Amino acid sequence: MSRITSIEEYHKEYKRSVENPEAFWAEQAEQFVWKKKWDKVLDWNFNEPDIKWFVGGKLNITENCLDRHLSERGNQTAIIWEPNNPNESGRKISYKELHSEVCRFSNVLKNNGAKKGDRICIYMPMIPELAIAVLACARIGAIHSVVFGGFSFQSLSDRIHDADCNIVITADGGFRGAKDIALKSVVDEALKTCPSVKKVIVTKRTNCEVIMQNERDVWWHDEIKKVTDDCSPEMMDSEDKLFILYTSGSTGKPKGVVHTCGGYMVYTQYTFENVFQYKKGEIYWCTADIGWITGHSYLVYGPLLSGGTTLMFEGIPTFPDAGRFWQVIDKHQVNIFYTAPTAIRSLEALGLDFVKPYKLNSLRVLGSVGEPINEEAWHWYDENIGKKKCPIADTWWQTETGGIMISPLAGITKTIPGFATLPLPGIQPVLLDEKGNELVGNSVEGRLCMKFPWPGIIRTTYNNHARCYDAYFSQFKGYYFTGDGCRRDENGYYRITGRVDDVIKVSGHLLGTAEVENAINQHPDVVESAVVGFPHDIKGWGIYAYVILEHERKDTDELKKEIIASVNKYMGAIAKPDKIQIVSGLPKTRSGKIMRRILRKVAEGDFSNLGDTSTLLDPAVVEEIKAGAI
Ligand code: PRX
Repeated sequence: MSRITSIEEYHKEYKRSVENPEAFWAEQAEQFVWKKKWDKVLDWNFNEPDIKWFVGGKLNITENCLDRHLSERGNQTAIIWEPNNPNESGRKISYKELHSEVCRFSNVLKNNGAKKGDRICIYMPMIPELAIAVLACARIGAIHSVVFGGFSFQSLSDRIHDADCNIVITADGGFRGAKDIALKSVVDEALKTCPSVKKVIVTKRTNCEVIMQNERDVWWHDEIKKVTDDCSPEMMDSEDKLFILYTSGSTGKPKGVVHTCGGYMVYTQYTFENVFQYKKGEIYWCTADIGWITGHSYLVYGPLLSGGTTLMFEGIPTFPDAGRFWQVIDKHQVNIFYTAPTAIRSLEALGLDFVKPYKLNSLRVLGSVGEPINEEAWHWYDENIGKKKCPIADTWWQTETGGIMISPLAGITKTIPGFATLPLPGIQPVLLDEKGNELVGNSVEGRLCMKFPWPGIIRTTYNNHARCYDAYFSQFKGYYFTGDGCRRDENGYYRITGRVDDVIKVSGHLLGTAEVENAINQHPDVVESAVVGFPHDIKGWGIYAYVILEHERKDTDELKKEIIASVNKYMGAIAKPDKIQIVSGLPKTRSGKIMRRILRKVAEGDFSNLGDTSTLLDPAVVEEIKAGAI
């Protein structure tokens, strides 16, 4: 794996990767353990799409994450686990121990009927067993589908259904700040509508009471006693599915993004090492939950493939107080810290008193991910956390891209606040105008697309390949469309301007407006709703819901609480509307299409230029909406 060490080298490598991508990626792939080498590096077209990397290669990603490190660094810590409560002792798990635990749990899965190709849903808190479960699935060739522990039973059930999972791995409960979350009871509720699930494996975390269903539910700690730690890795094809991860789209239910074994492995390690300039022995901490792609690629797979030490944190940034991140950094002498702008903004808002007690002098590199980082937050992070000596990698990428795509290489690429800067080697971004023409040269702004595949690219959406085509490859023929707007400045630096479709980034989480509307519409008094985003100081974007009722309700506050409860129930707390406005109608065109542009403007508090409203069926509703804006 080539490590870039200077900006000149970056430019050289970039050029090489574009001129001869196959040779470039073959070189990166050489260092891994392959059971059989690939016959061909790449086969692709974006028309179906049909994309294959390292065709014919055989491997197991866990052999590369674990087994191959044992001789050199078996006793080195692979995972540092920091619990929610700072007074509880955490864990340090060496590569040898992790290997053994993953093998044991792989055998538990097999004993419970799991086989290669099965889909296994993982719904767990941020405890080591979560990482072990993920790796055990990969070891036996089962496809993991991790569902974030904050999602409701309905979201969980939808995801289990869509992937037709036969096993669920969960915990009795989880700790998050001052709260306990009863995960197993959410699973019980979800499984009422999921007959495909034959086994539920439950680990103990909170010791809360759970109801175990005979035949179906088993305890992790009982099962683990029945097995040895001898489990050879299943031989996987490069293009066998490694995992499914659900992400929101502008229409309908979330899509099951599929990543495959070979390309994802090569891409996550290459990007991890180069973006963060990871050095052997360093302590690396990514604060994302494993339920999101950042947790998959840069908490579990990337760092372990690199033989690194990865910190896993169970809690939240504000528990027991807003200094927790900084306390953990000092405690474990963290060198690389990777978090989201929304966390930075919320901690900034709580003041420097929470930062001052900590030295933070172990830090060498900072990272940001998930949404645009505003300049103010960037400077606060740079000055108060990095003490102006840690380069900030503002990493742009997506669930669908598998790994980081546009980002500075820490300490190598000159940074500008708000800019993700330059594409990584192998990445060929283009900006298109609305008609699909490429905007050449610099100082241009358009829709961000990719014109050539990279090893980590999405292969399909689970069980519905047409949806993959529709969502990413149909708008602009021959390109992968990201859904983001972007500007390329006069120096060729990229600045992401935000989504151009009907999804909203709320606290770094992608939410489809249609999904939130569905959850709101479950309320019996709601006839119709329309959801848009509005700029929010901490969350980046907040959720503004316009709601039409079947009949008038005088107890508006109560009603709003009920609507929020409905969203909680059908999606989860992350989708909670910040503002709810009751309206008698929505601005619709004569063909019945909601004019979201108008709703967005009103939500932003900008009534000055609502554009052309002459095509509206009933222009009067706009006046009413303006008058009632919150
Ligand atoms: O809009 C972009 C935004 O997050 C979207 C992808 O979201 P998701 O699939 O949940 O993955 C998040 C973690 C990789 C993108 O389409 N986004 C992500 N990173 C950045 C960003 N926007 C601006 N700057 C970033 N660094």
